[in-house]
Amino acid sequence: MKDFNQRVAVITGAGSGIGRALAQQLAAEGCRLALSDINQEAVESVAADLRNKGAQVMADRLDVSDREAFYAYADKVAAEYGSVNLVFNNAGVALGVTVEQMSYEDFEWMMSINFWGVVYGTKAFLPLLKQADAGHVINISSLFGLVAVPTQSAYNAAKFAVRGFTESLRMELELENSNVSCSCVHPGGIKTNIARNARMHDVSHITGLDSERSINEFEKFFRTTPEQAAATILNGVRHNKRRILIGSDAYAIDVLQRALPALYQRVVATGQKLQRKRA
Ligand SMILES: NC(=O)c1ccc[n+]([C@@H]2O[C@H](COP(=O)([O-])OP(=O)(O)OC[C@H]3O[C@@H](n4cnc5c(N)ncnc54)[C@H](O)[C@@H]3O)[C@@H](O)[C@H]2O)c1
Repeated sequence: MKDFNQRVAVITGAGSGIGRALAQQLAAEGCRLALSDINQEAVESVAADLRNKGAQVMADRLDVSDREAFYAYADKVAAEYGSVNLVFNNAGVALGVTVEQMSYEDFEWMMSINFWGVVYGTKAFLPLLKQADAGHVINISSLFGLVAVPTQSAYNAAKFAVRGFTESLRMELELENSNVSCSCVHPGGIKTNIARNARMHDVSHITGLDSERSINEFEKFFRTTPEQAAATILNGVRHNKRRILIGSDAYAIDVLQRALPALYQRVVATGQKLQRKRA
């Protein structure tokens, strides 16, 4: 899909960060939008701003972890626009905790949004995408879908799962000669609210940092703006890329993972030990 003018795009988690930037850039290209977020006020505000600029925008509260609600939402979008061309499964949350400390409630919360939300969004909209002349599913994983790090086991599990799910889907669509394609996105650190809104537990015995300092340290690695991230994603869609890496950090991690597929863990753990000593 080279051109987004008059296409219909569905974006989850559109009230903030990467989702909001995608909405702004697609609207500027004449795309019609179905925006949703669990935070109704945030998504309404993004939509109001875009409508003022002349865009056609639906704004809905949607919790992506609610399968029934996601399917009902797909029906609503179909009734409003008749067809769908782009689905950005973007909504996501973060969690900092060790495996030993982690409650099943926290683990299930993470998987229900960052993994199952992507699965529901893909499956609920796939029939509609297939009815259109061209369709594309964009699933947001992470550089933590390429490598694992301590205190991120649930996030890693969800983002590795998104990668496997999306790469398998891509091959299925190719084998069907489908009009639909898909891409898996691996952003590095993006300057958004994700760390501030995370469920952060006390992991100071691993990191040497309390929760507030952990967030601050994390945010030091947030170098790319959401606007740059959105532009890279849309460019990747135009070029029908299988894997979309965002930021020099994501490229560096990709190289590290290829060079040291298992031994990278020693590099990460050594870095973590040094940081703990400094702290
Ligand atoms: N920011 C980064 O450094 C980074 C890096 C890699 C991957 N990502 C991924 O990018 C995606 C977007 O995150 P962001 O950085 O823009 O964060 P963000 O916090 O700015 O935006 C996420 C949005 O998702 C919404 N959301 C949370 N739970 C939801 C739910 N259950 N249903 C619907 N919406 C929900 C939030 O309200 C928020 O508006 C996420 O999948 C995240 O994991 C972010």
